[in-house]
Amino acid sequence: MNAKRRPIIAGNWKMNMTATQARDLASKLIPLVSGVKDRDIVLAPTFTSLQTVAEAIKGTNVALAAQNLFWEDKGAFTGEISAEMLLDSGCKYVIIGHSERRQYFGETDETVNKKVRQALNKGLLPIVCVGELLSEREAGKANNVIDRQITGALKGVTAAEMQKIVIAYEPVWAIGTGKTASPDQANEIHAFIRQKVKAMYTAEVADWLRIQYGGSVTPDNVSQLMAKPDIDGALVGGASLKPESFAALVTFK
Ligand code: 13P
Repeated sequence: MNAKRRPIIAGNWKMNMTATQARDLASKLIPLVSGVKDRDIVLAPTFTSLQTVAEAIKGTNVALAAQNLFWEDKGAFTGEISAEMLLDSGCKYVIIGHSERRQYFGETDETVNKKVRQALNKGLLPIVCVGELLSEREAGKANNVIDRQITGALKGVTAAEMQKIVIAYEPVWAIGTGKTASPDQANEIHAFIRQKVKAMYTAEVADWLRIQYGGSVTPDNVSQLMAKPDIDGALVGGASLKPESFAALVTFK
């Protein structure tokens, strides 16, 4: 963490919970985190739970994110969801380019970029995910992959727009595996991302950029990760599905 950057902790609920279960989780979580003033808290339920969770968190210190969006404004795109629909459902943020979307749904650096630009154009704050596969890390190519993903995702994004973006570094081998990147391993890539953004924009833009770590973050390892200078928050899957464990994560010391 760096005192200049406000930490941001987000729960990515992935394809879990009905709207009823989501409402229950959100309403149990709110009293546990209501005293937190010095960091941003974000919940990303499925599309079908957005409105319900929006109602549950209304007037609280918890913000809403979607897990995806489509890059066109509207029209004949069966099964897709637009930025306007997300805004209307109460979303402030949108997760873009999660590795599960890249792996299972054919998302590429190009489509990630289209989504990032659409989100920015419409007033949603993108949480842009990057991360290497285990095979890429083992081949010594982690930095190359991250470099390519960052360059691709941010194509055409201005320095002013960069203030609205959060990057999430999620090594694919650490997601849902219980195998967290060590704080040093994570910080090394975070520092690399910050350097890259500095080269693409300015030192100031890089300095303000918030970079979350994601991949088997738990209440037990969050503090060591957050102690690192370039780690500014967490994007949490499994451990965000229980109010107590997500609250413990959000209130890390
Ligand atoms: P886990 O916390 O379950 O490893 O998931 C991380 C993730 O993919 C968050 O987007």
